[in-house]
Amino acid sequence: MKAAVTVHSKFTISNIDPRLYGSFIEHLGRAVYTGIYEPDHPTADENGMRRDVIELVRELNMPIVRYPGGNFVSAYNWEDGIGPKESRPTRLDLAWHTSESNQVGIHEFAEWCAAADTQMMLAVNLGSRGLDEARNFLEYVNHPGGSEWSDKRRANGRDEPWDVKLWCLGNEMDGPWQIGHKTADEYGRLAHETAKAMRAFDSSLELVVCGSSNAHMPTYPEWEATVLDHTYNEIDFISLHMYFENRAKNTASYLARSIELDNYIGTVAGVIAYVKAKKRSSKDVYISFDEWNVWYHSKERDKATLAGAHGWPHAPALLEDDYNFEDVLQVGCILNTFINRADVVKIACMAQLVNVIAPIMTVPGGPAWRQTIFYPYYFASVYGRGTALKLLVDSPSYRVDGLGEVPYLDISAVHDAHRNAVTFFIVNRHGSEAIELDVSLLEFGTMKIIDDQVLAHSDINITNTAEQPDNVVPKRGEGADFVNGWLGAKIAPLSYRMIRLK
Ligand code: AHR
Repeated sequence: MKAAVTVHSKFTISNIDPRLYGSFIEHLGRAVYTGIYEPDHPTADENGMRRDVIELVRELNMPIVRYPGGNFVSAYNWEDGIGPKESRPTRLDLAWHTSESNQVGIHEFAEWCAAADTQMMLAVNLGSRGLDEARNFLEYVNHPGGSEWSDKRRANGRDEPWDVKLWCLGNEMDGPWQIGHKTADEYGRLAHETAKAMRAFDSSLELVVCGSSNAHMPTYPEWEATVLDHTYNEIDFISLHMYFENRAKNTASYLARSIELDNYIGTVAGVIAYVKAKKRSSKDVYISFDEWNVWYHSKERDKATLAGAHGWPHAPALLEDDYNFEDVLQVGCILNTFINRADVVKIACMAQLVNVIAPIMTVPGGPAWRQTIFYPYYFASVYGRGTALKLLVDSPSYRVDGLGEVPYLDISAVHDAHRNAVTFFIVNRHGSEAIELDVSLLEFGTMKIIDDQVLAHSDINITNTAEQPDNVVPKRGEGADFVNGWLGAKIAPLSYRMIRLK
């Protein structure tokens, strides 16, 4: 099977906001406790944070991490996580039917972010709480001193404010499962007033309002139109979430779901444009796709805990999806979609980061390791910085009900003008045929292949485990060449490939 791609140095989509490669830590399952924080672990630092996990996180070069939830944030009292650890309360977490010890709060998380070389993206609770707690939290986090909350922060050992710029106004407020769920009008009003108060403190904040939890919500996309109608001039981003699953065990239709993702982004971009025109606004609002990933492997296993069959356990194993090789391809296609939509999607957070639907797993007291999906995320984050290029793609395709024609070739390209490097991220969705790929690179000058990495495996169900962490690892790609402005490569069936030229 043959596919052709044309790329020109001047045909661009947009600069890529580095925050496209963000992530997410929620107080959920073992993400925090025995994930990032385990004071008794042999690698623990002076704050009780696992150094082995920090090292893996640093590899991913993530610019931001969203915190502290997720569904958790909608009944969270941020004040529970400050002050002496021994006096912090244990609370029942209603979102995940567990107990929260509050041994990690904003101070500990901020220290962890500094060690992991990333920035905080904080969410305020607009479920069980509202504007007042949001403004107090903001004052605690960002005000230098001389006010009640900022002086409490200083008394708690942090002199300098953290100066967090990016704030989420609640989480998935369209979801009936959310504590404090609201209608679009109720939420829109509250988000508007909260944004106004936060901006009165600092007009340079970047604020994210909740969009739909997924494209199948009955309120989608009217939710976006109503919420933006209330908030458009006070906010900067609308958040979208989407999770992927293959319970039907149908690889072809599973890998086509990034087309649905693309349609979802396109629809919400349209709603943004509609509200912008309606408001006669000159301001742009962008998408923060702040939860995305594959999530289905653990759902059966988690039912009992979530239904309360085990009482209120502290940090039980929850949402611990064991990712297989097939999921590598899905994550590759998702990241390609974000790159190809970099003009409207400025922020995206893989949900989540450690143990909970995560690229990084840990054993309490034992090792940390990379799941299969670590690698496509790593390649995109490390090499996908610069300008997204507009590609003319000519690929054979297959039909999927509800989605139409789906190309076998899924591809994105990023131009790093500083290094004059072009990186292609490629997925072959075909189950048995290789793609003979020809890429014409116009106006890039003389280049050569400087890196070629492939992720492929004969068993799409293979996973990485604590005992066998290297079942799926990148290998050097073979046979690609670059001659007279043409890149040629044979892309194996069901494989992921990153080819970098300079
Ligand atoms: O990431 C897991 C959960 O998925 C989050 O808590 C919630 O926002 C979403 O439904």
